Amino acid sequence: MNIERELTAPMLLRQHAAHETLSGAWPESLEADFPVSMAVSALSEISAWPGYAPTPLESLDGLATELGLGAVLYKDEGPRFGLGSFKALGGAYAVMLLARKWLADRGHDAATLDEIRSGKFAEALKEMTVTCATDGNHGRSVSWGAEMAGCRCVIFIHAEVSEGRKTAMEAFGAEVRRIDGDYDLSLKVSETEAEANGWYVVSDASWPGYMEIPRDVMAGYTVMASEVLAQTVAPPTHMFVQAGVGGFAAAMVARFWQTLGAEAPRTVVVEPELAACAIESARQDKPAVVPIHEETLMAGLSCGEMSLVAWPILAAGCSDYLTVGEEGVGPAMRLLASGEAGARITAGESGVAGLLGLMAVSSHPELKTRIGLGPDSRVLLIGSEGATDPEIYRSIVGDLAA
Ligand SMILES: Cc1ncc(COP(=O)(O)O)c(C=O)c1O
Repeated sequence: MNIERELTAPMLLRQHAAHETLSGAWPESLEADFPVSMAVSALSEISAWPGYAPTPLESLDGLATELGLGAVLYKDEGPRFGLGSFKALGGAYAVMLLARKWLADRGHDAATLDEIRSGKFAEALKEMTVTCATDGNHGRSVSWGAEMAGCRCVIFIHAEVSEGRKTAMEAFGAEVRRIDGDYDLSLKVSETEAEANGWYVVSDASWPGYMEIPRDVMAGYTVMASEVLAQTVAPPTHMFVQAGVGGFAAAMVARFWQTLGAEAPRTVVVEPELAACAIESARQDKPAVVPIHEETLMAGLSCGEMSLVAWPILAAGCSDYLTVGEEGVGPAMRLLASGEAGARITAGESGVAGLLGLMAVSSHPELKTRIGLGPDSRVLLIGSEGATDPEIYRSIVGDLAA
């Protein structure tokens, strides 16, 4: 397989993940902020949405053999609700919960998400506007959720977001405004505009005083882990999971830990060298901010600030952090498109980061041993997006595109 596999980037190994030291159980301190009941409700609500189907869990047997592993499982989020990424589970779910709360505050106490979807409160919900800043995937989910709920939606994107990603949000009826600046500026503008106009920010990032909605977003993401548990006889022993603000990784870690206790997979958090706020948080042992000097090709992971909701879960449950360079992204996408790894998969730029992490560690015998990767390992990767921008995808994958 033709792919760059040398580990050149920093890897941070901490002594133990907490589930190895705290007798395995999901700790009460984490349960208080991110209870099991949130994950249970998310699965029961989201699985009732039209078009719901668990995403495929592919077995990459060719890759497992090549890397000397028992199994490599790839959860392909490309088909998720026709939105192209796992993000469909988060922003849209948070919009629906917010719509329910908004209605309750206006005297419609018993509105269910089903009723909201059916349009029963459409007239009232026209008065509610949601907003967010996005590099594409989260905004697509929020726009879709707003369309489902029947409320208004204004999305802020930064200068580098592709036209394809903008159009995809407009297709759900969102008004998309492009600002002249980077992601952080678009976030600030969304907050200022929300404040000035009485709109509601539905962000996947969190900051002091803004934790509830990002927590709902993460609850939506746990559906992926719940599905994996139902799709496997023996759960994964390891998971390589990519991070932007860390919400995705934390949701996966939480749900496995809640369900499997000490048997939860050992998790390696993987992020671009150009936006490495998770490894920096691990180094500092607190949520860290890093400057973004250059945009990574892995657009969804281009976040410089660790989520405050995600960090306590990652800090307690995850010991290993790895950064990856840009050069492996194209080859990894082509490897999956070719079918050589064991299945033909359409994977977007941010979707392959976990695979890049696994390949990097596998090229390093000492690290591989320290992480406990070997012939008995069942490694889970989450292909967090498909071709969310088909033009960029084709430009990278060329004739291999399905
Ligand atoms: C495709 C994809 N994968 C992974 C992530 C990372 O998620 P998080 O920012 O919650 O860490 C994102 C975030 O936008 C994404 O779009």
